[in-house]
Amino acid sequence: MLTLMLPIALSMLWFGISSCESRGPAAPEAFLSSAAVRAAGARLYASHCSVCHGADGSGNGPRRNFMVPPPANLAVPPWSRRRDAGRTYAVIRAGLAGTAMKGWPALTERQTWELVGYIESLGHGA
Ligand code: HEC
Repeated sequence: MLTLMLPIALSMLWFGISSCESRGPAAPEAFLSSAAVRAAGARLYASHCSVCHGADGSGNGPRRNFMVPPPANLAVPPWSRRRDAGRTYAVIRAGLAGTAMKGWPALTERQTWELVGYIESLGHGA
């Protein structure tokens, strides 16, 4: 009986967590600091984000001209701060109304966390 109940309980827990997404889920610590995760995030960032946020995250991408507000500098807190990872995750998922920052719901949850891990590394000169 327990072997049947456990996976069900775990999946309910998982859906509970994912439905809190807009408020920002808890950051999976070890995942975010893994080198492989950050490398994957760097690749996603280069193809989707650097055009606005710049290759180094400073907000100086080639498309930034005349954008109001300009793309955020992702290399400074709060975006580069570990304890705000849930917030960064939520912004990437949902975007920011009234700015050129659209949401990226087509990215998987894993890809979104990879981006969060990468952005966090930007604040440390990585
Ligand atoms: C079309 C240009 C554009 C693209 C592409 C883009 N952003 Fe943004 N981003 C913006 C703008 C503009 C803001 C708003 C800055 C502000 O509110 O001051 C922003 C804000 C943010 C913020 C901070 C939110 C805030 O309140 O300042 C994060 C985090 C972010 N973007 C991450 C990303 C990631 C990750 C990607 C790629 C998946 C991405 N952005 C792609 C333009 C862009």
